[in-house]
Amino acid sequence: MKTVITYGTFDMFHIGHLNLLKRAKKLGDKLIVAVSTDEFNSLKNKKSVICYEQRAKIVSHIDCVDKVIAENSWEQKIQDIQKYNIDIFAIGDDWLGKFDFLKEFCEVVYLERTKNVSTSNLKNKIGQINELL
Ligand code: CTP
Repeated sequence: MKTVITYGTFDMFHIGHLNLLKRAKKLGDKLIVAVSTDEFNSLKNKKSVICYEQRAKIVSHIDCVDKVIAENSWEQKIQDIQKYNIDIFAIGDDWLGKFDFLKEFCEVVYLERTKNVSTSNLKNKIGQINELL
C-alpha cells in the first residue's frame, strides 16, 4: 500500500490539474492532496479567484483523490510525510529540483505539466475577453 501526496492551489480547476492528480494517483494506491489556504496564498503574494473551502471541496470530489488537507505553510511537508506515512511526494515539473530535500524522507517525483493550460493563462484569457465586452 503506497501513499502519494501532492500540493497546490488548484484555483479554477482545469485539465492540467486533473491530469496531474490522475498521474500522481497512478504512482501509488492512495492520494492525499494538500490544497493551499487563502492565508498561505497571501504569504506567497498569490490571490485565488475561488476560496479555499470551495477549491478543497472540488478537489475532494475528484475520483482519484482520497483525502484533502490544508497547506498552511512551506514547512509542513516533512511533518505531513511523517504523519500520513507518505511513500511518494509528487508535483509538477515547474518545481523540478525544488523539493529534492524531501528525498531524505520519501521518494520525490516530478510529473510533466500539461502544456498550454494554467490558472494564470485562464485569468489572462478572461481579462482579454472582458476587454472586448
Ligand atoms: N499543473 C500541471 N499542468 C498544468 C498546470 C498545473 O501539471 N498545466 C500542476 C502543477 O505543476 C502543480 C499542480 O498542478 O503540481 C497544482 O498547480 P497550481 O499552481 O495550483 O496550478 P497552475 O495552473 O500552475 O496555477 P498558476 O498559473 O497560478 O501557477
